[in-house]
Amino acid sequence: MTRRESALRQSWDANAAAWTSAVRSGQIESRALGTDRAILEAVLETNPRSVLDVGCGEGWLCRSLTARGVSAIGVDGSAELVEEAKRAGGGVFHVLDYADLAEGGEIPGGGLHDAIALNFALLGDDHTAHLRALTGHLSPGGRIVLQTVHPWTARHDQPYRCGWRMETFAAFGSAFRTAMPWYYRTVERWVEEFHDAGFCIVALREPRHPETSEPLSLLLIAQPLPHPGRDADPTPPDHRIRGV
Ligand SMILES: C[S@@+](CC[C@H](N)C(=O)[O-])C[C@H]1O[C@@H](n2cnc3c(N)ncnc32)[C@H](O)[C@@H]1O
Repeated sequence: MTRRESALRQSWDANAAAWTSAVRSGQIESRALGTDRAILEAVLETNPRSVLDVGCGEGWLCRSLTARGVSAIGVDGSAELVEEAKRAGGGVFHVLDYADLAEGGEIPGGGLHDAIALNFALLGDDHTAHLRALTGHLSPGGRIVLQTVHPWTARHDQPYRCGWRMETFAAFGSAFRTAMPWYYRTVERWVEEFHDAGFCIVALREPRHPETSEPLSLLLIAQPLPHPGRDADPTPPDHRIRGV
C-alpha cells in the first residue's frame, strides 16, 4: 500500500465519529439536495433482492434498502465506521478492505447480489482490480451502481486532469481530525477504468441541483462485458457508451 493510500484509509477511522454525525445530521447539502435519492433510486431500479454496499461507511444506504425490504450487506475498510453501522442496525456489516476483495477475500454470508453500490467510495488512484473482483459477487444480469463527485464541479480551481488532491473537510468545521488524500478522475478516466475492469457503462447520469442546475454528482451504472462464446447477450444498454 502506498503512503497516500495508507493515509486515505487511516483518515476514515480518525474521522469516523465526525463523518457519522455529518451524514446522520444531514450536514452534507448535496446529499439532501439529490445524491442520496439518486443512488437509492438507481439501485432500486435493478429490482434487487440483495445488494452489496461496498465502502458502506456508517451504513445509511443499507438501512434505506432494508427499510424497503431489500436484503443488504455493507462492507467497509474502517472498523470504526462498521461499528457505527452495526450499532444503528438495518443491514449486515463487515470490515473488509478493497484489497482483500481483490485477493478473493470472502464476504461472510455473501452470496451473489443483484446490485453492488459504490457511493462516493472509490477514492484511490487505481480501482481496476477491485472493480474486476466485484464481478464474482454479481448475480447474472446484476449491475454496479457507482456515484462519485462530479469531475467538472469537483475540479474547483485546478486543471481538468487526473491526480491526487487533499480533502481537509474544512467545510464541516473542526470535527474532522485528519485530512484525506483522494484521487481526482476525469469522466473519461472513470469510463476507462470500468472498461479495463471488464464492464460496460449502461447508463450515465448527472443528478442536478434543483435550483442552479449544476451537477451534484456523476452516477454510472455498469454491467460485466459478455465473454464471447460463454455468455448470452447482456441486457441492452440504456445509453450506448460501449467499447471505449
Ligand atoms: C465518502 S465515504 C462514503 C461512505 C458511504 N458509502 C456513504 O455513502 O456514506 C468513503 C468510504 O469508503 C471507505 N473506503 C475507502 N477506501 C477503502 C478501501 N480501500 N477499502 C475499504 N473501504 C474503503 C471508507 O472507509 C469510507 O467509509
